[in-house]
Amino acid sequence: MLENFLWGIATAANQLEGAWNEDGKGPSTADILYDGTAGEYPKELKVYPDKYYSYHLGSDFYHRYKQDIQLFNEMGIKCYRMSIAWSRIFPTGEGEPNKKGIEFYNNVFKELKKYNIIPIVTLSHYEMPLELVKKYGGWKNRKLISLYEKYAKTVIDKFHDLVPYWITFNEMNFISTIPFCAGGLWFDNNESEADKNKAMFQGAHHQFVAGAWVVDYVHNNYPELKVGCMVCGTFSYANSCKPQDAWDQINCDRETFYYTDTFVRGHYPKYAKSFLREKGVTLKIEEGDLEQISKGKVDFIAMSYYFTRVAPINPNNDAYLTNNERMLGKIKNPYLKVSQWGWVIDPVGLRIALNKLYDRYELPILIAENGLGAHDTLTADGKIHDDYRKEFLEAHIKEVKKASDIDGVDVLGYTSWSGIDLVSATSAQISKRYGQIYVDYDDDGHGTGNRIKKDSFYWYKRIIESNASEI
Ligand code: BG6
Repeated sequence: MLENFLWGIATAANQLEGAWNEDGKGPSTADILYDGTAGEYPKELKVYPDKYYSYHLGSDFYHRYKQDIQLFNEMGIKCYRMSIAWSRIFPTGEGEPNKKGIEFYNNVFKELKKYNIIPIVTLSHYEMPLELVKKYGGWKNRKLISLYEKYAKTVIDKFHDLVPYWITFNEMNFISTIPFCAGGLWFDNNESEADKNKAMFQGAHHQFVAGAWVVDYVHNNYPELKVGCMVCGTFSYANSCKPQDAWDQINCDRETFYYTDTFVRGHYPKYAKSFLREKGVTLKIEEGDLEQISKGKVDFIAMSYYFTRVAPINPNNDAYLTNNERMLGKIKNPYLKVSQWGWVIDPVGLRIALNKLYDRYELPILIAENGLGAHDTLTADGKIHDDYRKEFLEAHIKEVKKASDIDGVDVLGYTSWSGIDLVSATSAQISKRYGQIYVDYDDDGHGTGNRIKKDSFYWYKRIIESNASEI
């Protein structure tokens, strides 16, 4: 592992901060999801008074960030991947920036600087002003390009001397898996599959143009900073050695490569034509779009890694798949165990994903998320013995070491999800715990919110101190 390897943790504003309507923050897409991104969606774009919304409280980082960052420092992290809530800076997505929102992030970055913790900031992590969905229909509308650029410019100009690494969109490839949280695309299920596909891939096109603008803007104005794209590294295995299965696997991986190919090479891949045609999509590309994309080649690739899948995702072409099935795939891998939430546990798959991306692009890769969501038990003496989490992280970090030290992959860093417990994106439960720091809230928001160091806290601290030399 490199000497200056970026060991850290990763979180997202909408899952951690809480304070959903404080100090001028506007409602975001996440704020209306009571059941998470894989669960039931509300019928209307609003907050129902009789429902409980765990994102509204999050882990209350907004009020406790000083104590939390002090704990992060005690854990020894070198970097902190976090996101800025767009709806905290531009409450409706338009108009003037919210001073209080800027002040909050300024305070957070200054606090991080106090401990020499390097921020890596995602501009849009499964969150955007809800008003932009109501008014424009989210990213399918090209109006979003200029509004996102204005937001990005505002925070980059303000924080360029405090934040050296920026990521444009979280898990951009998931716009076609969970389109509402990744793209603000709201479907009432009267749309045909082709109409949904059109909205999703047109939305992705607008994100490519906007993301490329950010890269170009930063390169021209702040050349010392680095900008990356991010995907969920859900690569797949072929179901067997049948040639057709191998072909299905290539197509399944293209659901991820479509995004990295475009952001890294600065143009759509050749297969984009057939890939989109099969989905019934013809993109509306305006003059200047492709040129803009060509100017926005990223400096690094960020990848989250949780599970692998078996291709194809939908083997029997079922007309309807749940959000979970679309994300995890329908074919089970008989060689792998699953987590308490049914997510396949596959450490070797991480080495494979790193190699696939590096072979293709030879760009530095940040493992921007990796972790185990599990129920934790607080013992009578106030401890959490989470050996399962240590085992999970250790097994994955071992594979990162192999990718780095044996295979020669340029791994920039590893930010474990989530360092501190926060609300799950797919299930909206805080009881799906990922942190090395326990947060005393339950799924209904009861509890003190106190922070408790889990056994994995001390373990991760040792890993960082030793640069993983002991495993
Ligand atoms: C990633 C997301 O896909 O998975 C995070 O970027 C999310 O926002 C993480 O929290 C884990 O998923 P979940 O649903 O268990 O919280």
